[in-house]
Amino acid sequence: MKNNYYITTPIYYPSAKPHMGHAYSSIVADFFARFKKINGFKVYFLTGTDEHGQKIEKASIDAKMDTLEFCNKISKTFKDLSLKLNLSNNDFIRTTEERHKLSVEKLWKILEKKNEIYLSKYSGWYSVSDEAFYSDDEIIEKDNEKVSKISGSKVEWVEEESFFFKLSKWQNTLLDYYEKNPEFIRPESRRNEVVSFVKGGLKDLSISRKSLKWGIKVPSNNDHVIYVWLDALTNYLSALDFKSEDNDIYKNFWPANLHLIGKDIIRFHAVYWPAFLLAANISLPKTIYGHGWILSNDEKMSKSKGNILDPLEIIDKYGLDPLRFYLLKEVSFGNDGNISKEKLENCINSDLANNYGNLCQRVISFTEKNFDLNIPDEINLMDQDKLILGKFNKNFDILVNSIDKQDINFYVKFLMDTLFSSNKYFNDEAPWNKKDDKTRLNTIVYVSLELIRRISIIIYPIMPKSSLNALKIFNIKENEIDFKSIKDDNFLKNIKKINKIGILFNKITND
Ligand code: ME8
Ligand code: MG
Repeated sequence: MKNNYYITTPIYYPSAKPHMGHAYSSIVADFFARFKKINGFKVYFLTGTDEHGQKIEKASIDAKMDTLEFCNKISKTFKDLSLKLNLSNNDFIRTTEERHKLSVEKLWKILEKKNEIYLSKYSGWYSVSDEAFYSDDEIIEKDNEKVSKISGSKVEWVEEESFFFKLSKWQNTLLDYYEKNPEFIRPESRRNEVVSFVKGGLKDLSISRKSLKWGIKVPSNNDHVIYVWLDALTNYLSALDFKSEDNDIYKNFWPANLHLIGKDIIRFHAVYWPAFLLAANISLPKTIYGHGWILSNDEKMSKSKGNILDPLEIIDKYGLDPLRFYLLKEVSFGNDGNISKEKLENCINSDLANNYGNLCQRVISFTEKNFDLNIPDEINLMDQDKLILGKFNKNFDILVNSIDKQDINFYVKFLMDTLFSSNKYFNDEAPWNKKDDKTRLNTIVYVSLELIRRISIIIYPIMPKSSLNALKIFNIKENEIDFKSIKDDNFLKNIKKINKIGILFNKITND
């Protein structure tokens, strides 16, 4: 098995500045990327912006700006956000880049050559906001307007000449593939949704627009531009230099291991994308995970609803790592989750300051007072010590496995349980009462330090910066973090002394 791992976020529309939903997808993807990295994988992590199509053209007109200038401006706010979120992405792709255009043209030509494309006429409903075609039975009337039942977005009637992709002929192949590859669409509920949609019958898909200029032209017919979703999905290939014939990066990293997306765009990723790839004889990504929505007061946070929590504001006020931790812990992964400032503040105070931060501070100051920051070396592990340390060894493979199934909830629960039991261990063992029993005193401090080391490694994918701050206690640097060392009961024996560190998390006081 290749030790490479390719993970992607959706490429976001630069139609308005990013909000918490975008931040959420990117943070989750970064969690997986960092986890895989410290677990010994070579990781390629891609994010970027989706800049063609009617939605973007319209947004630029509304902003009274040249469309490319508009894209440059808003795309930069997404790139800035990726820095602010401390994403470990290797690349940030923009679909207005030449490398992408060449890849899309290449894919189009392959499909054309394989006779998967034909010219005809489209008449039907189109939502500019979703950049999606909807059938009659997916449309309802609301406040005297036709809207999509699925997204609630306004639709308009379109009638024009269009190239079509022979989607219908892939219906059975897709169903067969879903059946044989249960990990292809996750979570389960999303998979069922997709299966029943495909079982309902697939019509050929319109993949070009004549009335639109802002996009990549159909190579053989310059009156048409390529449908923005065929264009956008190809970004996952373009970033790996799909356009070139001899490309190591493509050979190493395709097929993608994980396309992480929101549930709003599952149909494009789990139906259209694999159909394009099957038709072009390109191997399919391993897993498409459609996570839930970030809600604010039970409504989807979105540009059009105006109920946006600005990630930049939150980060400036509370710091990045608390936000990353809060989102990963609070939102049950796969489901929708409400977030609020109050709950974020509670989480910072109780989980981060009182629980993790306090554990580190108590153990360090006890080690300072009693051992002058030296790591005690004469120890003798008793049952309760072996039990709490053994918890990691026992759960290590389960933890790795859970991440291969994108089970972030299990990971977070393991972390919270371990934090709780480590604090309890230090309290129950009460080293301050063991000053007459030198070996026991040594052992409790050793084990407590070892627990902090292990917890801080587990925390790395969630809060990289805080994890690195905590690991300074042991002089462990970023490139030395290795998930496997968690199993090593003797790790601290090679380190003589610990370092003092500052407060990891400040409590929020509302005065
Ligand atoms: O759909 N909660 O871009 P987009 C959670 N360009 N995640 C959310 C969210 C919310 N409230 N709102 C947005 C597009 N997201 C296309 C994608 S990919 C080839 C092309 C996240 O700007 C979530 O990942 O509308 C969702 O799928 C994505 O942003 C949609 O971003
Ligand atoms: Mg959207």
